[in-house]
Amino acid sequence: MFIRRGMDKRSVPRHMNAMSLIKKTLLGQANENGPKPVWLMRQAGRYLPEYREVRAKAGGFVDLCLNPDLATEVTLQPIRRYGFDAAILFSDILMVPHGLGQKLWFQEGEGPRLTPITDNASLAVAGLLERLAPIFSTVRQVRAALPAQTELIGFAGSPWTVASYMIEGGGGGDFHAIRKMAFAAPEKLDDIIDTLVEATLFYTRAQIEAGAGVIQLFDSWAGNVGHPLFDRYIIGPTRKIVEGLKHSHPEVPIIGFPRLAGSNLPRYVAETGVHGVGLDTGVSLPWAVATVPPTVTLQGNIDPLALVAGGKALDAAADHVLQQAKGRRFIINLGHGIIPATPPEHVAQLVARVREGQG
Ligand code: CP3
Repeated sequence: MFIRRGMDKRSVPRHMNAMSLIKKTLLGQANENGPKPVWLMRQAGRYLPEYREVRAKAGGFVDLCLNPDLATEVTLQPIRRYGFDAAILFSDILMVPHGLGQKLWFQEGEGPRLTPITDNASLAVAGLLERLAPIFSTVRQVRAALPAQTELIGFAGSPWTVASYMIEGGGGGDFHAIRKMAFAAPEKLDDIIDTLVEATLFYTRAQIEAGAGVIQLFDSWAGNVGHPLFDRYIIGPTRKIVEGLKHSHPEVPIIGFPRLAGSNLPRYVAETGVHGVGLDTGVSLPWAVATVPPTVTLQGNIDPLALVAGGKALDAAADHVLQQAKGRRFIINLGHGIIPATPPEHVAQLVARVREGQG
């Protein structure tokens, strides 16, 4: 068996074909007073020495995402260490622009760079699945290596967030280019967003066909969209993707993560039809518990910096979330991704606290 540490207590024989706790939770089939599943955004990555080792021999970051053997290995690394309830496919939200033919590279120490676009003329949906084919091989390999009860989460960025990088030509700032375009050339932006809706549907469906059992849509920059435009650029495109997936794959639940959506969050939940919603660090859990309908699973929202700090502060942060999660469809996670400065033993501390805190 490939996976050892942390798995023993929860393992069930493969032939029972158990539905994962995360999927049961999202579909309303888990005991709401029972233990909560846990995984962490960016659970694979630079904070792990074994990731840095693979990364060093992979060449570029895009090469790593397109190398099924290495991408499978780094997807499984955090599962081996911590026995999370789910693995998340190792890839990046910017692989969709790459698949559409936009030039993408990662500048060492600076993050992603793309040749900026101003319309959708150069984007080729037809070649997408072929260019991204190695990613679907990774999904198949990971699924085959995981224990039956460990979920495999596939993902994509939401159209607004992916377009933010595509139009800016990278990240690191306030994404003025797309935000200006929303006012100065909205029809052109609509075309780009429409292309991304179509591409994202193809891409997530192919991940599901290859073995992903849950899909998360990362909308990391949803908070950049003002209230009057939130329907047009966040809710509308997300709803199209959710409806499309529900139509083709009704058994696959979807988690939306509209980071920094603030007061738009209840509308996002009600109008997109997501099964679960990722809460960013700033969202009050008592507010979310009271506001989001109980049929929608909450996910979050421990501060990634509490995970860097560790110790009693981390225990207290975990206990707060566990307390609020009681009696609720809930997935324990962070409010944003793990950052590279995180000591790996703090992640072990958090997982132990979550497991022990629930008997
Ligand atoms: O473990 C996992 O969560 C799976 C892999 C994953 C990565 N990126 C790997 C990665 C996932 C789910 C993502 C999502 C992603 N990528 C988002 C949405 C979530 C979020 O953090 O808001 C965004 C905005 C991106 C775009 C991106 N990719 C940026 C801005 C950067 C550079 C900054 C940074 O955090 O490093 C990346 C690079 C990246 N993606 C790395 C990893 C492990 C580091 C690259 C390296 O190893 O050199």
